[in-house]
Amino acid sequence: NNAIGVGLLGLGTVGSGVVKLLEENAPRIFQLIGRRVEIKRILERNPEKARLLGIPPEVLTNRFEDILEDDDIQVVIELLGGIEPARTWMLDALRRGKHVVTANKDVVADYGKELFEAAAAGNADFYFEASVGGGIPIIHALKENLSANKIEEVIGIVNGTTNYILTRMAEESVDFQSVLRSAQEAGYAESDPTADIEGHDAARKIAILASIAFNTRVTTKDVFVEGITKIAPEDINYARELGYVIKLLAIARDNNEDIEVRVHPAFLPQEHPLASVNGVFNAIFVRGNAVGETMFYGQGAGQMPTASAVFGDVMEIVRNLESGSTGRFACTCFLDRKICPIGQIHSK
Ligand code: NDP
Ligand code: HSE
Repeated sequence: NNAIGVGLLGLGTVGSGVVKLLEENAPRIFQLIGRRVEIKRILERNPEKARLLGIPPEVLTNRFEDILEDDDIQVVIELLGGIEPARTWMLDALRRGKHVVTANKDVVADYGKELFEAAAAGNADFYFEASVGGGIPIIHALKENLSANKIEEVIGIVNGTTNYILTRMAEESVDFQSVLRSAQEAGYAESDPTADIEGHDAARKIAILASIAFNTRVTTKDVFVEGITKIAPEDINYARELGYVIKLLAIARDNNEDIEVRVHPAFLPQEHPLASVNGVFNAIFVRGNAVGETMFYGQGAGQMPTASAVFGDVMEIVRNLESGSTGRFACTCFLDRKICPIGQIHSK
């Protein structure tokens, strides 16, 4: 049996999506990577979630050691959310030489340095494409495809829940709380949606993007944050009358002497490319000194788009294993500032 063994932490919205995606696309995945991927153990506290997906009870566990100590598990997918125990379990897995994939922006934004150090110690891979922009391949684009550029700015709509709320408020007369409830029912919102509506989720994502784009270390405390809770339907109507839309923007800019990183609602002219990004869709506009302007667009939250990003990372890990290049993709971003040429971070 030469299957790649996976340990899945969390069988919620995204975790269930990963199980479904593997079921639906297994032949294609096998064809592309030449190895079968088998989810050997799932850590989840609610057995009903597994039963609904037809997962045999013996696959379930509530002990992380069952995954950590299983030598047939090479890849751990962390989809629990929150800082602890997700952070500790990812660090333990990496130090033990298990490759880790996560969608957890809370941990990546503030503990990226520790995670990459643990990956180096374990000669393991650490991937986190789904942590920003759901299904949009923005991390890979910044880390690899655009890496020859000096990135000048990154401007994004990076939170699906708030963009969905603002879009619905602009299109129909709905109240904030009821639209938020539908975003939660659709599986877009965080388990505590305060992080979405107060802008903290977007702040974590722009901290991750800025760290990669500017090859430095930006954490959430460097980001100025204002959410959308004070936006009233009248503000949206007023903006429309003036030819604008209101969007929650996440902005990271290299001003040469400092880096500016902020999240706040902004008036955008209706003809701006980000103004027509509606509903749960996200878009990230990147300007580089060689490539010029580029924009990445797609579903920024939701079960299957996020599972798509998670599984793409798993497949990249398998390719690395097959080519013997595991551990080669360490990021210099997130590490100490002394190795980061940009220097001082200053948030306005
Ligand atoms: P969910 O809350 O739906 O799923 C998390 C699952 O993990 C739940 O079933 C939860 O159980 C379980 N869990 C959490 N902690 C533990 C624990 N200590 N022991 C056992 N089980 C535990 O979250 P999502 O699937 O929506 O999100 C997962 C991650 O993906 C988060 O980091 C999120 O930010 C990220 N993400 C989510 C997206 C989305 O669209 N939903 C998009 C992009 C990223 P219980 O329900 O009992 O708490
Ligand atoms: N709660 C997040 C959002 C999930 O709405 O964008 C995707 O990271």
